[in-house]
Amino acid sequence: MPPSATMSPTPGADEPIPLFDPRRQYQRLQTEIDARVAAVLAHGAYVNGPEIAELEDALCRSTGATACVACANGTDALVMSLLAHGIGPGDAVFVPAFTYVATAGAVRLAGATPVFCDVLEATANLDPTDLDRQAARVRKSGTLRLRAVLPVDLYGLPADYAGVQSVADDHDLLVIADAAQSMGAAREGVAVGALAPTTTVSFFPTKPLGCAGDGGAILTSDGALAERLRLLRTHGTDASRTAVALGMNNRLDTLQAAILLAKLPHLTTERAHREQLAQRYDDLLAKAVEPAPRDPGCTSAWALYTLRSERRDAIQQALSDQQIGAGVYYHAPVHLHPAYQAFGDGPGSLPVSERLAARVLSLPLTAEMTEAQVTRVAQAVCAAVAG
Ligand SMILES: Cc1ncc(COP(=O)(O)O)c(C=O)c1O
Repeated sequence: MPPSATMSPTPGADEPIPLFDPRRQYQRLQTEIDARVAAVLAHGAYVNGPEIAELEDALCRSTGATACVACANGTDALVMSLLAHGIGPGDAVFVPAFTYVATAGAVRLAGATPVFCDVLEATANLDPTDLDRQAARVRKSGTLRLRAVLPVDLYGLPADYAGVQSVADDHDLLVIADAAQSMGAAREGVAVGALAPTTTVSFFPTKPLGCAGDGGAILTSDGALAERLRLLRTHGTDASRTAVALGMNNRLDTLQAAILLAKLPHLTTERAHREQLAQRYDDLLAKAVEPAPRDPGCTSAWALYTLRSERRDAIQQALSDQQIGAGVYYHAPVHLHPAYQAFGDGPGSLPVSERLAARVLSLPLTAEMTEAQVTRVAQAVCAAVAG
């Protein structure tokens, strides 16, 4: 049963099952969210209100990070992290090819050069061995300074941070975790936010911790970095409003912080419910498709349940015919998107990423879903595969 299911109406057997529906979470948490929003509207500090620092403190407490800087979205969190580390033109930043384009886009926005690496078949996350190979290749070419690597926790499953850190140490690379999809996850008992020296997150509405619009944050163990990020976030101005650095305006709205404060206490219960539903998908789908990736040392945030099948397109069509939402994340690896082709070596160069892009399909997996709904989706998948 979903968390606090008594507050949400039980969906009927033939009702559409959307891939995401943030309204259902709002219905479940409406009392707490409305109270938080009303408090902001009443106190009037719509920018830099007290909820910003309250959220930053709460995120540090829940993740084990020592500092947190809230910002406008997950893309800005990445760009700010790169800029605050002084990364820019002439610098190589290693990114997995199988991710949302924002990871590589942030590197370009900072003026640096993305270098694409392949991912592991088992987890769909950055392959440390390929990172080592690509870093050695860039070093040998002598054209770029090796500066950073951005592992991504795809679908909510933390990357292999120990493996990545070890290769990063060999090549003198900073590790900046792109945890846009993995708030609430952990690896070997260490929460996302404390798995890398710097971690960026997104609060896009469909993420494990989502607001009612755009939002993001940077979590770090480096207090000096947090200070530089705070300057960047507000036009480079210090407490006396003197511009001491070049900066932007990429603050999180107080209203979004307030909504996140209402949702954060529910993150653990919601994740646990999605985990249960994911287990049910595994059980029901085992004979029909390759189930969602897992990693024995990890607690996934279960942002998405992503199966793999040669019959992906037929399954998606069959689900759509039955008003069940499903999505392809992602239909092409980033090095094959027109805007990034100049930074890669074209088709065939990163085979695991390319194979995954042709086979993945994400099924509905929200904290509001019931086991009966998961059963209905799984049965539709199995029928599509059999047909
Ligand atoms: C892996 C990854 N990185 C970065 C982002 C960018 O986050 P935002 O949409 O908040 O800018 C996303 C958002 O989908 C993402 O999935």
